[in-house]
Amino acid sequence: MKWLEASLLEVLFFAVLLTASVNAEAVDRLDDHICPGPAYVVSNNTNAWTFIKERSGPLTPAMRYVRDIWAYGYWHQFAVGQTLYFRGKIKRFRRFFQVNILAGTAVDMEGAGQTLLRIQFGFRPDNLLGFINLSTKKDGQWSTVSIDNSPLSYFEPFDISIYGMQDRFQIRVNKKFSVDYTNVLGLNYAYLYQNAQDVDLDRVFIGGQIFDMPFSVPLPDGRFNFADTIILQAVATNDFSINLVDKGGIPMAFYPRYKEKYVSRNALMNGKWGEHEKNGTFPFTAGDEFELVITNTPSYFEFYVNNKLFATFAHRITTPEEYTTFDIAGDISPRHLSLCKSKV
Ligand SMILES: *[C@@H]1O[C@H](CO)[C@@H](O)[C@H](O)[C@H]1NC(C)=O
Ligand SMILES: *[C@@H]1O[C@H](CO)[C@@H](O)[C@H](O)[C@H]1NC(C)=O
Ligand SMILES: *[C@@H]1O[C@H](CO)[C@@H](O)[C@H](O)[C@H]1NC(C)=O
Repeated sequence: MKWLEASLLEVLFFAVLLTASVNAEAVDRLDDHICPGPAYVVSNNTNAWTFIKERSGPLTPAMRYVRDIWAYGYWHQFAVGQTLYFRGKIKRFRRFFQVNILAGTAVDMEGAGQTLLRIQFGFRPDNLLGFINLSTKKDGQWSTVSIDNSPLSYFEPFDISIYGMQDRFQIRVNKKFSVDYTNVLGLNYAYLYQNAQDVDLDRVFIGGQIFDMPFSVPLPDGRFNFADTIILQAVATNDFSINLVDKGGIPMAFYPRYKEKYVSRNALMNGKWGEHEKNGTFPFTAGDEFELVITNTPSYFEFYVNNKLFATFAHRITTPEEYTTFDIAGDISPRHLSLCKSKV
């Protein structure tokens, strides 16, 4: 069993299984979002919400005993336009940890199954500088591309995304673009993954779709209730706009301006823009992935960028839970969008 050899090296082992005939009885389906409870997600290239009442697994990933080792184990479809996200930290020194996206059997036994992508995040023992090995196993043969440096630091928590495109994976480490890797095998399968003892994951999910731009989706029941949260993962290269629209105008407009380095927060009411608020830092970098979280509260919206509270914006309307649509436009590629419900 190849994966047991890997565990004997005491490395982290993720295996992402990509097949319909999954040998996945031992593992859970990976969640489509990171909401703690019920969620609306934009998925399956519908450009519309799908309601997911319950998570398949806990918010904080838990290891389970999968065929002889303790592991994080999951399966899920991996469709073009979806991104696999995982975040965690290294617990103790190992030479590398790895992620596998498999096609075929859940456990790579006797050479059955293909490995679409195996990423090894390695650290040189002398100076802990990182490198990345990207490999594919096709028809029993491994091929590897080595990248000499890696933005992943041994001491920092890691935050990795793997974006599935038609012919390649786009891998980002700590939100920064790292590498494109040609996928010679195609991406029309499902997956599983698992690992050993040396890394703590604090979240993992897969989701998103190919977004038609400009993008607009109605708010379910015309509401963005207090304590509900919108989570958007995206990559932007220049100015973009995010609007919460209602019948009277745009009560919340969030407009990052890359050249001027500010984010304008404003509202359009009765055909007139109000005073724009643009103080604060500029939390975006062109070409990096980011996570924008918008929470509604009785007095204002809160905007979190990459887990840091960036700004608030006081409501200027008398019905601050009522909106018709959520719109995204500009030089932005949304990757994943969900609306977390505090209650249903
Ligand atoms: C997407 O479609 C698949 C296949 O129809 C379905 O099993 C899955 O639940 C859908 N996922 C979401 C998040 O809508
Ligand atoms: C990474 O790839 C290089 C070159 O193929 C190889 O020598 C090295 O052993 C690989 N590292 C790991 C951790 O497998
Ligand atoms: C902008 O200025 C207002 C008024 O001084 C302040 O309350 C708010 O925290 C500032 N916002 C940011 C993002 O710095």
